[in-house]
Amino acid sequence: MSKLTATAVANPNIAFIKYWGNRDNSLRLPANGSISMNLGGLNTQTCITFTPQLTADTLSLNGTPAAGKSLSRMTAFLDILRELSGSRLFASVTTENGFPTGAGIASSASAYAALATAASSALGLKLDEAGLSRLARRGSGSACRSIPGGFVEWRMGHTDADSYAVSIAPPEHWNLVDLVAVVQSQRKPVGSSEGHSLAGTSPLQQGRLAGAGARLDTCRNAILQRDFDALAQVVEADSNLMHAVMMTSRPALFYWQPESLAIMKLVPSWRRSGLPVCYTLDAGPNVHLLCLSESAEGLRQRLSAIPGVSQVLLAHPGGPAHLAEDCSLV
Ligand code: DP6
Repeated sequence: MSKLTATAVANPNIAFIKYWGNRDNSLRLPANGSISMNLGGLNTQTCITFTPQLTADTLSLNGTPAAGKSLSRMTAFLDILRELSGSRLFASVTTENGFPTGAGIASSASAYAALATAASSALGLKLDEAGLSRLARRGSGSACRSIPGGFVEWRMGHTDADSYAVSIAPPEHWNLVDLVAVVQSQRKPVGSSEGHSLAGTSPLQQGRLAGAGARLDTCRNAILQRDFDALAQVVEADSNLMHAVMMTSRPALFYWQPESLAIMKLVPSWRRSGLPVCYTLDAGPNVHLLCLSESAEGLRQRLSAIPGVSQVLLAHPGGPAHLAEDCSLV
């Protein structure tokens, strides 16, 4: 009999080759494979206890009780675990992000990677890394990439059984840094889950998908060979392609702010002047700049001086999702 309680920690990740659109929305089987880097130092910690005393799942998110969509999404995810384990118990979940909310770092990836790790352990399910990644995928697609460590590829697979992420290089393989330029912005108007379901309405999605295999190969090779220039070209092209699909969906999704575009126009000119740096944006206005660690401090200063940039976060390649000894949350 397991203890019915566990704590886990996971990092968010930044996609180099983007996941946008599903072949199956409910199973979160993606329309294309994707590649990302875990963002070390930016942690989500999640504690879970299954207990007969509860009549429904409860969720505390950064110290505040959650209801509505975030609670029902978590309950739907825990239903999968209850089904797998044969348990009928409800759970109390406490989760905290060690990075600023509203900073535009997608927290669903670290949230569902930590929750899958903690909940499966609490229920005594013995899942290997691939099994955990498959499970995390059901909560949030990008969460499957926060289970393995370092540089990670989500192989799209054909079915629920073979769609999961694997590490293609450990964190220490390459001293890349992600600098997140946070631009003044409101909460994003359309979340990723809804955005994925709109991807197919863009006439450009088929073209994006047709080239995804080649971009995955280029990106994987650039990482393995530590070829920054090749990485920069494919990362920027892939981000632009995803945003072109977003902007041409029905309804159209515009995630950029004027400051986002200003930075996107500066970065290639910095690169032409000899600085290894490139940009990528997820479903939001904040700009992620990838660079080598020796350039990070100088770039952070340059970014901070740009009007409209409210803060700059810095992350090194992070490790895998893992269990923690004790819950440090109250
Ligand atoms: C633009 O994983 O957040 O960040 O499965 O609905 O939770 P859900 O979507 P999510 O989508 C991530 C989209 C992206 C690109 C990426 O991370 O690959």
